[in-house]
Amino acid sequence: MSSDTGECADSTGEVVERETPSATDVDVSTLPLPPYPPNLGSPKLHVFRQMRDPRAFMFESMATHDVVRTHFVGMGDIVAVGHPEHLKRLLLTERDRFSKTDDFSIAFGEGLLTVEGEEWRQQRDVLQPLFVRDAVLGYADGMVEQMRRRVANWEDGQRVELQREMTDMTLDVLFATVLGRQLELDGDEAIREAAEHLHDWFLPTSWFLPDWVPTPARRRFTAAKRTLEREAGRLLDEKTAEGAPTDPSGADDLLSLLVGLRQAGVTDSGMLTDERLRDQMVTMIFAGHDTTTTTLSFAFYLLAHHPDVRERFHAEVDALDGPPTMEDVDDLAVTERVVTETLRLFPPVHTLPRLADETVAFDGYRVPAGTRVHAPLFRIQRDSRFFEAPDTFRPERWTPEFRQSLHNFAYAPFGGGPRICIGREFALLEAKLALATVGREYELYHLGDGDEEPTSFEMTTRMRQGEEFLVTER
Ligand code: HEM
Repeated sequence: MSSDTGECADSTGEVVERETPSATDVDVSTLPLPPYPPNLGSPKLHVFRQMRDPRAFMFESMATHDVVRTHFVGMGDIVAVGHPEHLKRLLLTERDRFSKTDDFSIAFGEGLLTVEGEEWRQQRDVLQPLFVRDAVLGYADGMVEQMRRRVANWEDGQRVELQREMTDMTLDVLFATVLGRQLELDGDEAIREAAEHLHDWFLPTSWFLPDWVPTPARRRFTAAKRTLEREAGRLLDEKTAEGAPTDPSGADDLLSLLVGLRQAGVTDSGMLTDERLRDQMVTMIFAGHDTTTTTLSFAFYLLAHHPDVRERFHAEVDALDGPPTMEDVDDLAVTERVVTETLRLFPPVHTLPRLADETVAFDGYRVPAGTRVHAPLFRIQRDSRFFEAPDTFRPERWTPEFRQSLHNFAYAPFGGGPRICIGREFALLEAKLALATVGREYELYHLGDGDEEPTSFEMTTRMRQGEEFLVTER
């Protein structure tokens, strides 16, 4: 690398190396745009290809380079960086040089996912205790109750659109645990539909248009967000009206915590206005169900196409005394590896976007301040330099030795550094319990050949609409 390196201490006091642009770096704009079909006249039109199949586009363009420049009409240059060292710089060692892009704050306001600086620190400190492992383990039985309630509806021989079913299940779990409200099994359609339409802000059809243009998708998004804000407001008011003063430090779900803060008039939480409280809840509804839906859908897809792993998985869950409980969680080693490997192949957050706040350099290319820098996790996690047979589903690769030897940022489905996903423990617990709960009772066959991965790259990775699975009772 041609950049100078310098040392500084990060927030933990650890001394870290930082790269500063040097005189020999060349401007990133000199990087040619990736190849594009010859019949598209201008390189800038490769955006259409990127919209049609972002995954293939990114893999092709990054096949030989860790730093790639792409260009979007309306967004300017986007620099994609694909080495774990680059990701480490974005998320950890040089995180103060990058900020989050504003797409999410336009969509979700001032919740934990989007705020920066001191306000982020305050929100994180307040929310963190609800998401540590011990606190999350307390949700285990409630999670399994919701899961069993839903799959009790399934019948032998039924065809299900798995993503739809998993979305319903993860929303049931999130509302019942974190938000303290049980959704109706076959009702609460307005909430379920609204949660689905939160994606519509980020559809490719809106990529080139300024944020104020009310495309049909954006209108659907706005209506959905309003529905969820109304529901969040209702839950907050209902809880407040219950009257009993809630001590925020002893709260065991998000709703009680937020109401406790409101009642206690805590002034430094940065979350006290009603608008902020609602933003926080809508953020959690979005971040807390969609990603787990993707994990579960693809875990069942992968199991369906890998009978040897499926057999080991069923043997493990069959050995439990009954439906999984909190005590069983540490005994589900095969299930855990299935989840880990699914998150590697299909990271629900496929790309981590950042904005360079100052001029930085990657591999000798100078990236001017104000440029969007994207880290495509789906490419980083399928890199043959770090994973043998990178496209193959091999849960057994995750031995303690392999984990130990792996670059810390070669596998980062939950991000990394201080802004690592706050819901990580929650999501891993939920995924393991859901696989075990379903796997004890049913086997799922994908009604497709599995030749082409059924992904759809939206704001998050999702399973293509309409993918059906056959449910068979075991
Ligand atoms: C498999 C499931 C999940 C995956 C793969 C996932 C992934 C991620 C990633 C990659 C980030 C970092 C984003 C960035 O740095 O730009 C993140 C942040 C976040 N996630 Fe998750 N997530 C999952 C589940 C959850 C759950 C269950 C919740 C809440 C109940 C949640 C809430 C959040 C929040 C609030 C943040 C922002 C944290 C901060 O900036 O301090 N996530 N998640």
